[in-house]
Amino acid sequence: MRIRAEVAVVTGASSGLGAEMARQLASAGLKVGLTARRRDELEAVAGTIRASGGTACVAVADAGDREATLAAFGSIARELGPVDLLVANAGVGIGTAARQFSGEAFERMVRVNLIGAGHAIEAVLPGMIRARRGHVVGISSLAAYRGLPGSAGYCATKAGLSALLEGLRPELRRLGIAVTAVHPGYVRTPMTERQSNFQPLLMDVEPAARIILQGIARRKTRVDFPRRMAGLLGLVRLLPDAVYDRLAGRLLLGKAARS
Ligand SMILES: NC(=O)c1ccc[n+]([C@@H]2O[C@H](COP(=O)([O-])OP(=O)(O)OC[C@H]3O[C@@H](n4cnc5c(N)ncnc54)[C@H](OP(=O)(O)O)[C@@H]3O)[C@@H](O)[C@H]2O)c1
Repeated sequence: MRIRAEVAVVTGASSGLGAEMARQLASAGLKVGLTARRRDELEAVAGTIRASGGTACVAVADAGDREATLAAFGSIARELGPVDLLVANAGVGIGTAARQFSGEAFERMVRVNLIGAGHAIEAVLPGMIRARRGHVVGISSLAAYRGLPGSAGYCATKAGLSALLEGLRPELRRLGIAVTAVHPGYVRTPMTERQSNFQPLLMDVEPAARIILQGIARRKTRVDFPRRMAGLLGLVRLLPDAVYDRLAGRLLLGKAARS
């Protein structure tokens, strides 16, 4: 697999999909900057990359903190060189069922999943625009397709992220910068391990990260998987509201809960 980039930064690289994508990007020959809040976990991922002959560095930042994110990207660029691939992956999933709806939980998700991605994008775009090359990747979710009972807040953040990437894409394309929105279904990571909801077609993290990297290598505008689930949800997207409400209520209400 050939990815047309030399220096990648992966946010949320301390566990799950982010850690696995960082390892696979390093195996593909890229220097990788890792950021998240937990230093020990980031160092452990960087250690496995270095042990296999790759190059990695770590910068701790809370994705919701703009100054900390800009500083973390600055220190990675000083150590590894100009960043030409961003994988904005940091994310949290917290249940927002109507009866227990918490504005505080919703704000936390918006701050990391959406605003945090914006901070990371701000950190890399000036350099990419100057160089007229680069690639911005955002890890959204199939949950962006339609608001799901129990996860309305999470779905809203992911729909927002997909719209943000789509809106930037035409302008950035003219500047030589690719944009990829990734919409995964359920992947076995600490996030899904914390949840007790029905998780159809749950995938292991290694093949999931491989699918994402293949999409990045092809500079696809979107990577939606697993295909069967993306196809099904694509049809669900077309359902009239009254039909959707009955179906989603029956299938998901009472079961969906993101912890
Ligand atoms: N697993 C799935 O089924 C699935 C499906 C679709 C989309 N996704 C998306 O994939 C991405 C990765 O999730 P995952 O499944 O790999 O979950 P995970 O293992 O819980 O990883 C989440 C990552 O985000 C980081 N993070 C959380 N809050 C942060 C903050 N305030 N500042 C900086 N980093 C923060 C975490 O690091 P620290 O705690 O160290 O900060 C961690 O590295 C998320 O955006 C998620 O929404 C996951």
